[in-house]
Amino acid sequence: MTPPTAPLDLAAVRGDFPILERRVNGHPLVYLDSAATSQKPRQVLEAMDDYYRRHNANVHRGVHTLAEEATHLFEEARGKVARFVGASERATVFTKNVSEAINLVAYAWGLRNLREGDEILVTEMEHHSNLVPWQLVAGMTGARIRAVPVTGDYQLDLDALDGLLGERTRMVAVSAMSNVLGTVNPVAEIARRAHDAGALVLADAAQAVPHAGARLDELGVDFLGFTGHKALGPMGVGVLAAREELLDSMEPFLGGGEMISDVDIDRFTWNTIPWRFEAGTPNVAEAVGLGAAVDYLQGLGMDRVRAHEVDVTGYALKRLGEIEGLVVYGPSEVEHRGGMVSFTIGDIHPHDVAQVLDAEGIAVRAGHHCAKPLLRRLGVQATTRASFYLYSTTDEVDALVAGLERVKRFFA
Ligand code: ALA
Repeated sequence: MTPPTAPLDLAAVRGDFPILERRVNGHPLVYLDSAATSQKPRQVLEAMDDYYRRHNANVHRGVHTLAEEATHLFEEARGKVARFVGASERATVFTKNVSEAINLVAYAWGLRNLREGDEILVTEMEHHSNLVPWQLVAGMTGARIRAVPVTGDYQLDLDALDGLLGERTRMVAVSAMSNVLGTVNPVAEIARRAHDAGALVLADAAQAVPHAGARLDELGVDFLGFTGHKALGPMGVGVLAAREELLDSMEPFLGGGEMISDVDIDRFTWNTIPWRFEAGTPNVAEAVGLGAAVDYLQGLGMDRVRAHEVDVTGYALKRLGEIEGLVVYGPSEVEHRGGMVSFTIGDIHPHDVAQVLDAEGIAVRAGHHCAKPLLRRLGVQATTRASFYLYSTTDEVDALVAGLERVKRFFA
């Protein structure tokens, strides 16, 4: 029998995040914007500070002690990240963010492999990061983009997927967890069907890695991208994890230092993976910070992080459901969604909602959430989104609900 998961020690967790002690506009900070970026525990801040105070040097270039220490720390971070997302170290590439990870695949694989009439299958719930790189490459190759529709209950239409998959489908690029709806997509099932049709699969796991611990091996996808700053790490470091032999077969995306084996005036040979895809001096301190973030998350256990978010999100859905005129966009069953809730209240503009909440120290995101096609599909121009993480509390949900009641009175 699986032992029951012990809940997180929330007070101890919150104590690790210095920013949560802040007051904003005279109120204690209620940070409900973790889907945009997470806050950072002191363990991450200290790892980065220690790197710059004691070890800073360029990596893979020097033979001096600091250069060796920096290289060791950088590659150690890669190992931590690779194990966290179920990929080999050789096939775990540090990028700037998830957008760059997807651009890497779109250019290094797509530009060289897509032909006129080939199809790239995306979904209606993609972030612009998983649309625009494909649109750019489709424009250069003559490939066509098609989209799996979203159903009335905010899921991907898997029957439509079967109709869309065909011999022209070369790539299926799908979000593992919607940043607007919170929908957790059945990526493993989608990957199985896509592979049967002969297509490759890329999972945009920007939300799924931090909140549900998504893994390349378990999902059975060919590429998985995520970004450090949504997973307790710093901004400026992202990850592309890939199936090793596939990555190894790909030619470079960006050129520069580090990604070469030899260079002459008019030619070069490229480096082995993963460095073939890491042109220029990398964000070493950021990678080290991300390694510390992975240690932190694994120390708590991703199952406990997820369980906590399910609790808080379930409570939020219940409390928000009590507000008259509030419409939630996303699955009603909390087990099928991540820790974010998007909503509108009557015809009050989401930016006005966010501004009134901010006056009370409550941080939420309002707007199109970089998912304009999805919002068009939902028939709204913008929503307000409250998003949670391992440090979020039900008291913060109560503060949000009280704030929204004030918003309603304000605009009545
Ligand atoms: N992709 C981030 C969000 O959903 C910025 O807010």
